[in-house]
Amino acid sequence: MAFDIEMIKAVYERMPARVEAARKLVGRPLTLTEKILYSHLWEGTPTQTFERGKSYVDFAPDRVAMQDATAQMALLQFMQAGRPKVAVPSTVHCDHLIEAKVSSATDLAVAVDKNKEVYDFLSSVSDKYGIGFWKAGAGIIHQVVIENYAFPGGMMIGTDSHTVNAGGLGMIAIGVGGADACDVMAGLAWELKFPKLIGVKLTGKLNGWTSAKDVILKVAGILTVKGGTGAVVEYFGEGVTSMSATGKGTIANMGAEIGATTSTFGYDESMARYLTATGRADVAELANGIKEYLTADPEVYADPATYFDQVIEIDLDTLEPHLNGPFTPDLATPISQMKELAEKNGWPTKVEVGLIGSCTNSSYEDISRAASLAKQVAAKGLKTKAEYTITPGSEQVRYTIERDGFIDTFESIGGKVFSNACGPCIGQWARAGAEKGEKNTIVHSFNRNFAKRADGNPNTYAFVASPELVTALAIAGDLTFNPLTDYLTNEAGEQVKLDPPKGDELPTKGFAVEDAGYQAPAEDGSSVVVKVSPTSDRLQLLEPFTPWEGTDLKGLKLLIKAKGKCTTDHISMAGPWLKYRGHLDNISNNMLIGALNYFNEKTDKVKNQLTGEYGPVPATQRAYKAAGIGSIVVGDQNYGEGSSREHAAMEPRHLGVRAVLVKSFARIHETNLKKQGMLALTFANEADYDKIQENDSIDINGLADFAPGKPLEIVLNHEDGSSDTIVANHSYNDQQIEWFKAGGALNIIRASVGK
Ligand code: F3S
Repeated sequence: MAFDIEMIKAVYERMPARVEAARKLVGRPLTLTEKILYSHLWEGTPTQTFERGKSYVDFAPDRVAMQDATAQMALLQFMQAGRPKVAVPSTVHCDHLIEAKVSSATDLAVAVDKNKEVYDFLSSVSDKYGIGFWKAGAGIIHQVVIENYAFPGGMMIGTDSHTVNAGGLGMIAIGVGGADACDVMAGLAWELKFPKLIGVKLTGKLNGWTSAKDVILKVAGILTVKGGTGAVVEYFGEGVTSMSATGKGTIANMGAEIGATTSTFGYDESMARYLTATGRADVAELANGIKEYLTADPEVYADPATYFDQVIEIDLDTLEPHLNGPFTPDLATPISQMKELAEKNGWPTKVEVGLIGSCTNSSYEDISRAASLAKQVAAKGLKTKAEYTITPGSEQVRYTIERDGFIDTFESIGGKVFSNACGPCIGQWARAGAEKGEKNTIVHSFNRNFAKRADGNPNTYAFVASPELVTALAIAGDLTFNPLTDYLTNEAGEQVKLDPPKGDELPTKGFAVEDAGYQAPAEDGSSVVVKVSPTSDRLQLLEPFTPWEGTDLKGLKLLIKAKGKCTTDHISMAGPWLKYRGHLDNISNNMLIGALNYFNEKTDKVKNQLTGEYGPVPATQRAYKAAGIGSIVVGDQNYGEGSSREHAAMEPRHLGVRAVLVKSFARIHETNLKKQGMLALTFANEADYDKIQENDSIDINGLADFAPGKPLEIVLNHEDGSSDTIVANHSYNDQQIEWFKAGGALNIIRASVGK
């Protein structure tokens, strides 16, 4: 679907020379991850080496993918860059805003109506700027990407944490915030800390009831939800080559659940088969031409301990199917131990609903294996005990499995097919009765199972498993049923055993689809008008931020001195505010409402120095803005940790906060503030935090000589007429200082377009 073969050709043409240069510099054989990273440096052919876990490196990703919820602000910002087209191939996917309630067709129609203004905006902005647009119902971003765009050895970023799914086709694919996506589309470099490397060796071969999902469920149990942080996980071994490309995708997908930067696999025949089956034989041919560059050097896999920071080995011959949960994806239980553990922990054992599909597990192979179990229900005289739902990952998968009779099979056991969208995976499941909050158990083949994630009920115990195991447990209606050893009693009172699942890696008749739901952008988008209603409360076009006035900042009012933890959630809350993601002014009404005011230990109650009254943070800041007075936010350690949400930096900028002065920053938030043209400063002496008083007016001096490594002077003018002068450090480089002066990074890009 309009994948960019010329771009892939260019990547493959330059890769060998870059890898050779990197190998020479590093002075040893290279892992696959290193080959991909070193061949995507912003600087081009490598001239230096980087330290894992330490060096910050500028990269040039090949692609950008965005889902509808996060694309809104990313594209509103991109419009500010003034470019006629995106700098790299990019796509938008409408998948997150569709509720799963009645049936695929009804739910889709409701979503199209309810989200019309968002879809109209995304469709028109994509049309204008050369972005591929996948309509609501086309499928889930990661399934659509692996079917159409992912390619071995490529590098992409996406505005969703499960972007990592494309690692199944041998990419380095990483989830980012909208600001990063905007930068890359605008033609800027993308920065990442050079990752550490974890090697996972898979010996043996998947067999019987065990599937690729069980590999990652096992890995999650070993590494826990934090174990992959800052690392890329590279899989290798005979177990990898004997596995399908989509199975690899499932493993890569759930790398997000162990906090990994991403996961990847060396190019092999399974990838060539998948590329060919999905209409990309030419990509497979190109990849075959540079095979040795699309996997690690042989020495690496022969002696992994020398080349990886950590090595894990898993034997697929003995790997059992797993059930992970409840409430966390790293609580891994082999199916044979579930009976004992469920009893011990008091987990409800009656399975109410089994849900298969999602971006994690809706390949043809997954569905065909699940269907082979569903077929046994009639054949063995059984009756399915639990409810059962199917969420196809794309229209292509849905159409093909319908053609091949699997949907009929699922419906014959009471299965319900939801839209090709995120639905129940992201709390968009209007599950009847969930509001009662009853304790109950569900099993699903998705990736996340935190409390409330599926149906909003905090008492739903969600367990993650392969689609095969989910189907078996739904048939049995029992969490402790072990299909490898246990018998079921059928309608005739006989004891029957389910045969192990069987399926096809790829459809023997090929994939098919009538309308994949893709809309190609206009060749020349210059006359396309982006649709944003001026009265919309969900979308608002952005205005460029004003440049620095050229003087020191005097008389800034202290807006809030935040105490303790202040994450991006405290700065810009999620939940009900998510619907305003595309409307900066409306979402700014949540600015810092979760932060704790040092002076009264309350949230969202700060002193308005103009009136002396206490009020909500956003309203107080709006009063300063209306009076033409700047303000400053003071914070504690690791300010802005959490997510890369750009709203947390844009909101204070929009409402007129000029500087954020803290003990320390979470790095991504610090960079986001810089990009928006804010001053992100740290106390040279952390104890100076204590000198900040509630009624302070604050001056920031030295901006005329703002330079890398040169501290700024801060004067705290206290209410009683006394003052303190303190020193603030910063980490701005020359380019970032230009961002500050111009009023934001996008103002610089806009000014440079056409030059
Ligand atoms: Fe959607 Fe769930 Fe995947 S929200 S993108 S199906 S992780």
